[in-house]
Amino acid sequence: VQKQIYFDHNATTPIRSEVLQKIPHWLSQWGNASSIHWAGRGPKTILRDTRQSFADLVGCHPLEVVFTSGGSESNNLALKGVFQNLRLQNPQAPLRFLVGAMEHPSITKTCLALMKLGLQIDTIPVLRSGEVDLESYERLLTDSTRPKVTLVSHMTANNETGVVFPIKKMVKLARQAGALFHTDAVQALGKIPLSLEHLDVDFASFSAHKFYSLKGSGVLCVKKGLQIEPLIHGGGQERQRRGGTENILAIAALGEMCKQKDEVLIQYERVTKLRNSLEAQMRERVSGILFTGAQCKRVPNTSSVIIPEVDGETLLMNLDMEGFAVSTGAACSSGSPEPSPGLLAMGLTRKEAQSSLRISLGWSSTEEEVELFLQKLEQIVVRVRSLNNSK
Ligand SMILES: Cc1ncc(COP(=O)(O)O)c(C=O)c1O
Repeated sequence: VQKQIYFDHNATTPIRSEVLQKIPHWLSQWGNASSIHWAGRGPKTILRDTRQSFADLVGCHPLEVVFTSGGSESNNLALKGVFQNLRLQNPQAPLRFLVGAMEHPSITKTCLALMKLGLQIDTIPVLRSGEVDLESYERLLTDSTRPKVTLVSHMTANNETGVVFPIKKMVKLARQAGALFHTDAVQALGKIPLSLEHLDVDFASFSAHKFYSLKGSGVLCVKKGLQIEPLIHGGGQERQRRGGTENILAIAALGEMCKQKDEVLIQYERVTKLRNSLEAQMRERVSGILFTGAQCKRVPNTSSVIIPEVDGETLLMNLDMEGFAVSTGAACSSGSPEPSPGLLAMGLTRKEAQSSLRISLGWSSTEEEVELFLQKLEQIVVRVRSLNNSK
């Protein structure tokens, strides 16, 4: 039987055994959390406990936690919720948002949808190094020839390069310009210690399936006192911010992972060492290899590489045949031959972007897996290059 090795944790994570073990118990809590009779009490307790554990993990107040179905919904809710709320307050006022250049499609496509309703959008450029271009950001914020910026949306950590952005600094500049700040923290959860209070953001998005729990659960943190219009109107759940009977099973799973605050710190150290060793070995064993974003502060697990003369899709398929799961750019865009827009925004050429590979390690990744991966990668690169040269 072929060994399967999973190095695509930025696409989704396997479910932790602590979570799997408790699923039968949570399934027995089938009541509606809004019911005031006995059947609602267990689910209501799960909801309350997860709200508290999540708030403790990310450094916010429990009442700021709004449960959603995942990262995409959280991002939609933040952007559309702010837009609609401001529109309702003042239908005539021009609205302008600033958005990062490497955001996930759940941000960029939401922006395109809101532009049809009159929203003005400017993109905050990213440098070739993978860092945000802070000078351009300041210029965009203070441009007096344009409508005032009402919201900035910038991811905390990038899904492709793993680069961690200076959110605290960016929030400070947004405040000076009188703008609200949203961060998509989907790729930061469980990878770096987070404190929303310290970062001082107004809104932050999260997804449970990137954090060893179940699909179908996410969070949008909304700072106390701020209003958003809900995307889903319904029974008044989540303090009128997100209607619909709560997904108790997936929320309970997220809550279980939130208790692993100490493990986040342990894995941070361990996975950083493993990723650094992987990169050092790739540098030695794969000629011409280049690393994207490696000079910046990064989440511990991600390595984005360009392997010249080797097409990323070809490499991915060859690795897949040998049992290795990696990615070329974002998983959500795989299946499409177009190079990743995020990498192009950094200034990579189409050719470089097409030769890119993303390796994202996780809590269960081991030195042995890294070694097996290196051996296969080395062999496949040599084979593909010699096939290319013989054409
Ligand atoms: C940065 C980022 N934001 C949002 C999402 C979407 O999250 P979900 O899959 O929970 O909708 C992803 C998923 O890849 C992501 O990487």
